[in-house]
This record gives sequence, structure tokens and C-alpha cells, in this order.
Amino acid sequence: MAKVPVQFTLNGSETAEFVESGTTLLNALRDKIGDTSPKGGCHQGSCGACSVIVDGELKLSCLMLAETCSGADIRTTAGLSDGGVLHPLQRAFLDEFATQCGFCTPGMLMAAKTLLDHNPNPTREDVVEAISGNVCRCTGYEPIIRAVLTAARANSQNAS
Ligand code: FES
Ligand code: FES
Repeated sequence: MAKVPVQFTLNGSETAEFVESGTTLLNALRDKIGDTSPKGGCHQGSCGACSVIVDGELKLSCLMLAETCSGADIRTTAGLSDGGVLHPLQRAFLDEFATQCGFCTPGMLMAAKTLLDHNPNPTREDVVEAISGNVCRCTGYEPIIRAVLTAARANSQNAS
């Protein structure tokens, strides 16, 4: 199959690769670029495990072709922490026991980050809506909702 060039910014770094035409962004990230933080669950847009942020919007990387992402700004959970310092969302997920097996966690973090980037003071309903496309089989969702609200509170206290 023909190879096509893809070039985008991944977590702030310029990234360029050749992938087979038709390769999903998920597979390009995991198999070619080595960022395994987006997870492959259903590969058909149903579970949210592969969620990444593309140009500020939450996207399912299993449904995007890598070749359509040239020039994009892509953010994954691998780029959330700042050096050794956890992002407030990661800290809150740990503190609230919002991760168990962890398979859904990177996608949940991307959904939560997209929410807080657009709406720094969400209601519980806003959080439920924001993570409604992400399946978690372990936590029962309540710890995740608490963690997102905790991170939002921490962010607003740091800002004040
Ligand atoms: S792997 Fe993309 S939505 Fe499930
Ligand atoms: S922590 Fe296991 S699927 Fe969410």
C-alpha cells in the first residue's frame, strides 16, 4: 500500500512520519510514533478509549485518518504532565480513586481536559455530559466525576 507523509505537532513537538494510506490516527500514534497513551478499545467510535485533542477539540483517533491531520495540533495524555509534575486532572484522578484497571483513563483525561479548557467551572451535569462518550467498566463513574470537579476547583483556586 502507498505510504503517505503525516506531519503534525504532538504535545508541543513537531512530528513527521510516513504511514500507509488509510492508517488511523490511533494506529499512527501507537504503532509508528510510539505514543501508546491513546488506547484501542472498540476501534469503531463507541468506547472513547482512543480520545485525543485535535486543534482544541475532543476527537476519536480510531475514526480519523492520520493523513487528514497534517498541520494539526494534537494533544494526548502522554503530554499532560509537566516534567515530573502531574497535571491537576491526573492528581485528582489519583486522589479520588478514579482509575482502577486504567484502560479508560487516558481517554477520560482527554475528555475532562477538553471540558475544563472550554468551561473551567463545570457543573456535575456538565462533567457527566463531557464524559458521556467514554466507557468505564470499573469505577461506576462517580469517582471520575468527583475527580474532574476536584481538578476544576483546584484550577480555580490556583487562578485566584
Ligand atoms: S477505540 Fe476509538 S472509540 Fe473505541
Ligand atoms: S478504570 Fe477500568 S475501564 Fe475505567
